[in-house]
Amino acid sequence: ERPEALPYDLVGLKFLISAGGTREPLDPVRYLGNRSSGKQGYALARAAAQRGAQVTLVAGATADLADPAGVEVIRIATAAQLSEEISKRAPETDVVIMAAAVADFRPVHLSGAKIKKSDKGPAPIELTTNPDILAGLVRARRAGEIPDTTSIVGFAAETGDEHHGVLDHGRAKLARKGCDLLVVNAVGDGKAFGMDHNTGWILAAGGDETALPLGSKTLMASRILDAITVLRPDGGG
Ligand code: CTP
Ligand code: CA
Repeated sequence: ERPEALPYDLVGLKFLISAGGTREPLDPVRYLGNRSSGKQGYALARAAAQRGAQVTLVAGATADLADPAGVEVIRIATAAQLSEEISKRAPETDVVIMAAAVADFRPVHLSGAKIKKSDKGPAPIELTTNPDILAGLVRARRAGEIPDTTSIVGFAAETGDEHHGVLDHGRAKLARKGCDLLVVNAVGDGKAFGMDHNTGWILAAGGDETALPLGSKTLMASRILDAITVLRPDGGG
């Protein structure tokens, strides 16, 4: 099963990985969602398991992906459900990777019945902010509710704008979130979403910055796991 070239360096480590997009319901048939395919999170779960880790994958909406071999898969729909599954497992986890595309906002009202159209035209959809799961993990670790030895890894899909490049946005987000590693993907022009290839950087809280050249999500996954082993008191690559 396990490709011969892979290191077997994650034995004894528990990984908790989120993947895919959350869906925030409006009524029984409609939701606010996003285009996340889940491929990067699934590739990470597969690679970590192949390298010997015990892996739990918390999956939202994804493309049609097969469950990675030897991985416990838990399905969620909303950001609130994802938050619950992650926070309850994080204290017994060595490495948490938030690769899911979490909806920043959810509708304030969930209609029990299907919303009907009327002659008055559409009513505005009122939104409220979802909790930031990644930032919450960092806060919980600072508060001693999660061990200091638990590594916390985030993802960011960024586009440049007229003022800042992708890397500037990534550095600012790493500082804001307070996680140990932030994997920054350059998006736009059809990059990343639903594609099999990514490009970007791995930024470490200590200041290390590793460029990720264009490569498959499988290759990206092994680079990300390599960067995690460098962080670990019990690892080292
Ligand atoms: N994330 C999270 N909870 C949220 C939103 C995001 O845990 N409510 C996590 C994502 O899984 C990802 C990281 O935070 O690992 C960065 O997500 P991103 O959407 O890039 O960051 P935001 O802080 O939401 O900033 P932005 O305004 O750029 O969307
Ligand atoms: Ca966001």
